[in-house]
Amino acid sequence: MADATTNPAVLILLGPPGAGKGTQARMLEETFGFVQLSTGDLLRAAVAAGTEAGKQAKAVMSAGGLVSDDIVLAILKDRMADPDTRKGVILDGFPRTAGQAEALDGLLKSTGQRVNSVISMEVEDAPMIARVAGRYTCATCGEGYHDAFKQPAKAGVCDKCGGTDFKRRADDNAETAGARLAAYHAQTAPLITYYKGLGVLETVDAMANIAEVATAMQAAVARVMA
Ligand code: AP5
Repeated sequence: MADATTNPAVLILLGPPGAGKGTQARMLEETFGFVQLSTGDLLRAAVAAGTEAGKQAKAVMSAGGLVSDDIVLAILKDRMADPDTRKGVILDGFPRTAGQAEALDGLLKSTGQRVNSVISMEVEDAPMIARVAGRYTCATCGEGYHDAFKQPAKAGVCDKCGGTDFKRRADDNAETAGARLAAYHAQTAPLITYYKGLGVLETVDAMANIAEVATAMQAAVARVMA
C-alpha cells in the first residue's frame, strides 16, 4: 500500500526500448493524476536547448549508450522538486543503472519517501526493433503513434490536438535500437532482481496489445494505491 496521503507516490516503469513505457505512463497519468517523468524526454529537451548537460549527452544518445549517472541524476532531481509532482511520479526510463537506483533510494529517504511500485514490462527483443522504428509523435502535443500499431483516426491529423505536424526521434532506427537493447540487458535488467528483493516488483506481459497492457498496468497500480 502506498503512503501517498502524506507523500507523493513513486512508481517505476522498467522495460527495454519499445516496451511501451511512455505509452503506458501517459495513460497512468490520466487515471491516477501522477506526473510522468521521462529521463529520455528531459535529456532530449537539454540537447535541444543546447545546455552543457545536453551537449555531453547528445553523442551518447545518438550511439544508443547510457548518459552518465551524474548528468541524469542532476536533471531528474531538479524535475522531482517541481510542484506538479506532489501527488506522485511515474519514472519512465529511470533508474537504468545500479548507481541510479541507489541514488534514487537516497534521494527519497531524505524526504521520507520510498519506491512504492516497480512494474517490469516483459517483452521479447526482436519485435521491439519494429516498435521503435515505426514510432512517431505529434510535434504539437507529443501524442505517440506507430506506423502499424497506432495510427491517428484521420490520417495525418493528431487525435488529441488536431495538429498536422509529426516527428520521429533521431535514435529510432534499427541500428541504434539494437545498441539500446544491449545497454538495457547489460545495465538495466539487473534492477529487476534488485527491486524484487525490496518486495516492490510487479511484472506485466507487455507483448499484448496496448489496451490489454493498459488494463494490466492500471490494475497493478490500483493494487498499490488501495
Ligand atoms: P528513452 O527516451 O527513455 O528511450 P527508451 O528507454 O529507449 O524507450 P523508448 O522511448 O524507446 O520506448 P518506450 O518503452 O517508452 O516505448 P513507447 O511507449 O514509445 O531514452 C533514450 C536515450 O536517452 C537512451 O538510449 C539513453 O541514451 C538516454 N537515457 C534516458 N534515460 C537515461 C538514464 N536514466 N540513464 C542514462 N541514459 C538515459 O512505444 C514504442 C512504440 O511502440 C510506440 O510507437 C507505441 O505506439 C508502440 N507500442 C507501445 N506499446 C505497444 C504494444 N503493446 N503493442 C504494439 N505497439 C506498442
